[in-house]
Amino acid sequence: MSPSTTAVETEYHPQITSIRQQIASVSGDLLASLPVIEQLSSEARRGIIARYSAVLEGNFIYWMTGAYLAARSRESRIIIEDNLLTEVRDSHPGMLRRFALAAYSVPSDLDALAVYPRLSAVRLFVGRLSAAPLMAMMAFFEGFIQGFMPYLAELAKRQGSEEMEYTDVHGVCDIEHSEELFRALELEMELAGDSREASEYLFEGVYLLRDLIKAMISSPGIFRNVN
Ligand SMILES: [Fe+2]
Repeated sequence: MSPSTTAVETEYHPQITSIRQQIASVSGDLLASLPVIEQLSSEARRGIIARYSAVLEGNFIYWMTGAYLAARSRESRIIIEDNLLTEVRDSHPGMLRRFALAAYSVPSDLDALAVYPRLSAVRLFVGRLSAAPLMAMMAFFEGFIQGFMPYLAELAKRQGSEEMEYTDVHGVCDIEHSEELFRALELEMELAGDSREASEYLFEGVYLLRDLIKAMISSPGIFRNVN
């Protein structure tokens, strides 16, 4: 954890508690909609790992870089820089590639195509560099993957893999990342001084990313529909 993010004590933004609850609720609904692992075929398990990899391996650092460029407050930038440093220094994309390889789930062209439209929508949103909505999206994602990592690990295990560094690392450190990103969200909301209700502008990226995650985890055909 960054020393700069532990020492500062500021009152919460009046809306932040409600926003955190709403984001947690989106995350909780997604986790509750995950297909039952026991009912998935090997191909369905492979597909989820592959689509997750197709999205995260090449995009997470891009999203976080967007958040860094959008951030106005120095403290937010320090928080995001910590995230980026960990991603790059420890080569999280390389870690995810090893995870997918070991589970025989490296994404194919079709896996990439399956998520392409919703991934494009998230990319365009990130490109607008709207600080607070972007922080909300990243805080949502960091919270979601805490809950998703045990599921992803179980999919890989059932694919015969013992390579769990990616899921082990992200199941632990992202609890911290999520807290820090909510702090960054709060700071950016204060600086933006947007007079609109949070519900009118803050959740666009959260919902776009939620829809992208649905495309990652949905299993076509005989499997449970998560939409
Ligand atoms: Fe990571």
